[in-house]
Amino acid sequence: MLHLVHSIIQSPVGYKWFIWNRVIEENTVRNYVVKGNICYSKSSNELCIVENGYVVCEENKCAGVFHELPEAYEDFPLYDYSDHMIIPGLVDLHVHAPQYPFRGMAMDLELIDWLNTYTFVEEAKYANLDYAEKAYDIFVDDLKHSATTRAVVFGTIHNDATLLLMEKLEKAGIASYVGKVNMDRNSPEYLCEESAEQSAKATEQWLIASERFENVKPILTPRFTPSCTDELLERLSQLQKKYKVPVQSHLSENLGEIEWVKELCPGTKNYGDSYDRYDLFGNDCPTIMAHCVYSDEAEVEMMRKQNVFVAHCPESNANLSSGVAPVKNYLKKNMKVGLGSDIAAGSTLSIFKAMAMAVQCSKLRWRLYDQYVEPLTVEEVFYMATKGGGEFFGKVGSFEEGYEFDAVVLEDVSLRHPQELTVKERLERMIYLADDKNILAKFVNGNKILEK
Ligand code: GUN
Ligand code: FE
Repeated sequence: MLHLVHSIIQSPVGYKWFIWNRVIEENTVRNYVVKGNICYSKSSNELCIVENGYVVCEENKCAGVFHELPEAYEDFPLYDYSDHMIIPGLVDLHVHAPQYPFRGMAMDLELIDWLNTYTFVEEAKYANLDYAEKAYDIFVDDLKHSATTRAVVFGTIHNDATLLLMEKLEKAGIASYVGKVNMDRNSPEYLCEESAEQSAKATEQWLIASERFENVKPILTPRFTPSCTDELLERLSQLQKKYKVPVQSHLSENLGEIEWVKELCPGTKNYGDSYDRYDLFGNDCPTIMAHCVYSDEAEVEMMRKQNVFVAHCPESNANLSSGVAPVKNYLKKNMKVGLGSDIAAGSTLSIFKAMAMAVQCSKLRWRLYDQYVEPLTVEEVFYMATKGGGEFFGKVGSFEEGYEFDAVVLEDVSLRHPQELTVKERLERMIYLADDKNILAKFVNGNKILEK
């Protein structure tokens, strides 16, 4: 425990409670140094490790990683985490906040039946703000205590509940994009918006209402093509151009779903085209598409050229028997790829678990199904969980100079072992074994939002 006391005493403000409250309420400029075993990615195959090093936060941005602390920073307050591990904060590129209450349950169906049987029933409850209050308190509290510093989140069709979720994330200090969901067809009456016009109007009202948040930003969220009419996508496209907001949705997750989209959208080249024909697929419209398990060559090429981010959600794809996305190919093509928990098709918020599952699923895919797509490596999944997904937020997810300072401090002493381990081996172990108990502190954009 000594190191903790040390870090609290030496913290810039000197009193733990005061730091928490102060940094969250005011977005103060922060200068300090964090000491420990520093691990971060420069690219998908370049993992940098500085043992017993220093990472400097200057005006909330990373000023560099050093073996010896340069004189210029000697006067900065020091958080000394001695032999603990310091990694960039993890990024969850795809999570459904309202589905958190039924995580770890209802895994017996495939996508469309799963949506109709469990998911829509749960999401309808968020018309009731008392329920939303209780459920989103739990979601945000658990997210705050995880290693995730940034998240891209689906809400529900309800404006009030979605604004409540945004307020809670803002208060918790988690930088995020949150979407009010749009759905005006093929949805049960109790969770279907009245018309394209009404859905777009509500969306515009929500966009305006969300201008009050500083670190939580709105993202347009047509649920997926089957639940949005052409008119709705056209109206969302107009809003996207007017407000310059990004977009998130689902793409090529399940074979039956893809067939359905073909029927619903005659004349489209592929599923991606059903968004692209309304300019909701990258280029000037920053876009995240979850899954991309069965994207054909033309769809992949369009994603690559138009800088569409792929949110790879391996646990969800296993639980809903969707398949395994050929992520190695996407990385080889230098596409934008991050990881998503996809709660509640995925059971856990842990992006450590998503990393481990991404490796495991890629190995099964390779062994059982397709020897042309090699398995993912630890370096690659660590990159996707940090810098890969972080890129959606700008310069986020690395300790390279100029990156926004997001960091997580991990203790791994409690995971006992008799032999000497290198820092790289310790990092690999954390990917497979870490949970919230191992997190000692968490910084988002220079602000320390969690300290044990
Ligand atoms: N496609 C449309 N909606 C959803 C959802 O809530 N979860 C998943 N995994 N896929 C979807
Ligand atoms: Fe999803």
